[in-house]
Formats: sequence, C-alpha cells, structure tokens
Amino acid sequence: MDFEKTIDRKQTSSVKWDRAEKIFGSSDVLPMWVADMDFDNARPIKDALRKMIDDEVLGYTFPPDSLFTAISNWQNTNHNMPTKRENILLSPGVLSSIAVAVQAFTDPGDSVLIHDPVYPPFFSMVNKNERQVYRTPLNLENGQYSMDFDDIERQFKDEHIKMFVLSNPHNPGGRVWSENELIQLVELCKKYSVILISDEIHSDLVYSENTCVSPVTLDASYKDWVITLHSATKTFNIAGVKTSFILVFNEDLKEKLVKVQEETELDIVNTFGMRATEAALAESSEWHVALLEKLEANRSIVTDFFDKELSDVVYMVPEATYLFWFDASRLGVDNDKLRETFARIGKIGLNDGVSYGPSGKSYMRLNFAVPQSLLIDGLKRIKTVFDHYSK
Ligand SMILES: Cc1ncc(COP(=O)(O)O)c(C=O)c1O
Repeated sequence: MDFEKTIDRKQTSSVKWDRAEKIFGSSDVLPMWVADMDFDNARPIKDALRKMIDDEVLGYTFPPDSLFTAISNWQNTNHNMPTKRENILLSPGVLSSIAVAVQAFTDPGDSVLIHDPVYPPFFSMVNKNERQVYRTPLNLENGQYSMDFDDIERQFKDEHIKMFVLSNPHNPGGRVWSENELIQLVELCKKYSVILISDEIHSDLVYSENTCVSPVTLDASYKDWVITLHSATKTFNIAGVKTSFILVFNEDLKEKLVKVQEETELDIVNTFGMRATEAALAESSEWHVALLEKLEANRSIVTDFFDKELSDVVYMVPEATYLFWFDASRLGVDNDKLRETFARIGKIGLNDGVSYGPSGKSYMRLNFAVPQSLLIDGLKRIKTVFDHYSK
C-alpha cells in the first residue's frame, strides 16, 4: 500500500479526472472534487478480481454466504450492530437504496426532509421520484454544524413529513453526529411516524478522536423507524463496482423494501461488486487502518496550510470523511460563480457549496484523499485564488 504513488487516471473513464474538463471548462484543472480517492485499491480486492478474471466464466451469479458473513462481521465489529443474514439486502448503490426506500415508504407528493446543506443527490433522488423535498438548515455553532431540533419538529408536524434522509457522518461538513443528537432525532421520528434513512457510507472514514454511532443501535425500538444504508465503495475506493447494502431489522419495513427491489430488479448486484466488497470487508482491514492514518495526516496538512497561509478563511475541521469545507465568501465573488472562479484562476476543480443547498452557498468542498504532492499543489492553487482577490 503506497498512498504517495501518483497514478495517471486520465483516459480511464474516471468521473473525477475525465469529466473534469466538461465540468470545470478547462483541461488543465487539478480535480479535487467528487468523493473518489486518488489511491490504488487494497491488494486483496485486486487479487480477488484478478482471480475471477483468470479462472472463471462471467455468467450469472448469486450472492454467496461468504459475502453476507463478511458484511455481518464488519457491522458487528465496526458498528456495534449485530447483523444476521436476513437483515442484509444487497443494492447497486446507496443512491439506488434511497430511491427504493422513497418508493417503499412514501407516496408521490409526500414530504421528505433533508438537511441543508447536504449531499446534493438527496434532493434529486427524492425529487425525481416526485416527492416533495423540505430542508432543515443546520446551525453553525463553534465552527461545526448542529441540528435544529425545533425546526425539525415544526416541519415534521406542519409539513406532515414521512421520511428523513440523514448523512451520518455528514457530507459535506464532516460532522460525526453525537449519540445525544441521534437519539433526539429518532425520538422525533417515532413521535411523528417518520422513517429515518441513515446513509452511513462515510462511517468507516472517521478520525481517531470520534466514534460514529448508527442510530438503529441506540435502542431496541429504533429498528422500527431506522433503515441503515452502507457500502464498502467509499472506504475502499471501489465506487465503480456499484455494490452496496441495506441493513433492516424490522420485518414489515424489510418486506416493503424487498417488494420495490424485486419490482425494479434493484436487488441484483454484479459479480465484480460482490467479490470486491467481500475482499474489502473480510481481507482489507490493514489497508483501511493505513488509509485512516494517511487521511489524518492529510487533514493536518490542510488545516495547517489554512491556519498559516489563509488564516482569515473560516473552515470546518472534519471529524470524518476526506472532505474539507471552507468558506470562500472573503473573495466577494457571486456564489454561483465560485466553482468557475476556482477553476479559471486557481486551475483547481472543487465542488461549490451552493449545490449542497442554500445554507452552503459561500462554501467550497475540497477532497483531500490524494498523495501529498497533489495535496500541496491543490492547496497552493486555492491560495492563488485568495491572493488574486486580495490584491
Ligand atoms: C453521503 C453519500 N451518499 C451516497 C453516495 C453515493 O453512493 P453510491 O455511489 O453507492 O450511490 C455518496 C457519494 O459521494 C455520498 O457522499
């Protein structure tokens, strides 16, 4: 495992690298946007896929017991979530799972609540399924986001919310929600009969001082309200294999999910994804530990750089995720021009906060899961943009 090796990912249909020109309007942009790491995959994953290519015929397959065992063990060991085979549903992606949950637990026109800001497809998945999206703005306290429970309760009541989609930990702010916050949220869900979808795709990318809690584990009654979505794809950088899993502990909820999955064939995942997921969860812990060390070191490089070189720029120290969320309002550029401005002046491709919802409007998101040389290059490019506007 060599996290300092720079890998040429151009011409590999990489969204991060090969779509950069289209998204940022220039071919010389350093792409540090979409949540995809510029690190090679763990050896056991590559070995499992290589073995398959060399030794097998790529016909129809079914999920083997060993895959379910790997998922159960992972959830049990890393998330304090005793999980049996019958609690696991496979799904091509966390976003497909959100779509399935929306169809399973709500009707067209129903109201779904999400945070603001939050990962943009939460909005689009609900919206494309013709449900009504409501947003509850996060409070900004001591440089971190926190939930506004008064607003959540008001909207649960007034807007007759049927479902809440939570990013746990939070993308883009990197918050690891506390046990207390999660209990308050699920208690409100219970009170107003709201299904909580806890998207935990970033929950294995948590820094040493924090523990990510799955709300479903906090009380036996929560299994009737919480569905957990997870995947090995973010942690192990295998998003291209399109395989994820849903954890569900209530029979009625499970039946509803299975019905939609079967109606849409969204219960079938591909062979490569199954093999890669199993090899990741069952055999790649050493790589995972080393990754967290590398990301923690990169997080320090980023915060040190901002403290030293851009000391008046407000940012959030991520408690989890390799995403760094900073406020670019000092530039005085229109929020909807920020992405283009960073690309044109700094030659760097970042996600713009406005796409995460109105509350994210002046922020930018940097993906720091890259070798150190690229990271330093990217940080200098960001500084160029701030320097340009302070002249
Ligand atoms: C919070 C969150 N959920 C879901 C996804 C995408 O999941 P998938 O590729 O499994 O659909 C991402 C990707 O960045 C994410 O950040």
